[in-house]
Amino acid sequence: MSSSSSSAKLPNVIFVLGGPGAGKGTQCLKIVQNFGYVHLSAGDLLRAERQRPGSKVGEQIEDHIRKGTIVPVEITCSLLENAMIESGKETFLIDGFPRNKDNLDGWNRQMGDKTIVKGVLFFECSEEICVNRCLERGKQSGRSDDNEETLKKRINTYNESTLPIIQYFDKINMVKRIDASKSEEQVYDEVQSALNEIK
Ligand code: C5P
Ligand code: MG
Repeated sequence: MSSSSSSAKLPNVIFVLGGPGAGKGTQCLKIVQNFGYVHLSAGDLLRAERQRPGSKVGEQIEDHIRKGTIVPVEITCSLLENAMIESGKETFLIDGFPRNKDNLDGWNRQMGDKTIVKGVLFFECSEEICVNRCLERGKQSGRSDDNEETLKKRINTYNESTLPIIQYFDKINMVKRIDASKSEEQVYDEVQSALNEIK
């Protein structure tokens, strides 16, 4: 067997990045309804692990979420890998990951040989829109990080640690930029075109 035919069977991954409140999760839900991807949100998986009785890392996760800092990749990547295996599926939207260099390096170590990263959807919008959307969501979400104080830290983490990762993928032509400031429907139109180009 040639290596190309065996790698063709590896699960395909699209990373979904953008600031807090950019609409990553909202758009991923729409994508799942129309394309055959499984949506895995790193943040959702971390919040579920934090709630799991007996979790050894629950407190550590909560500490990072409240501070708007990034959980060590060994935790996040294992949650992602387990969810991929449990799904039994082959194509994944991985939302909110890789958020920093530790995330990216850890992914390459743990998953580099087991998956093919097809591209990155980048939801781009202003800081002001991000903050307003998160504060709006915070009225309902009950999330411990959708408040003004933590948001400042999350935006800071995004600018300092996540943007360089997006720039790295952009340099190797893997990024599809989406104008995330528009309405949900307009954004989704752009998302569909981008996904058709990635396939
Ligand atoms: O993506 P989401 O906004 O749900 O992430 C919420 C928080 O979860 C982040 O601010 C961060 O503390 C944590 N997180 C992380 N590593 C990731 C994704 C999320 O530490 N890759
Ligand atoms: Mg989200």
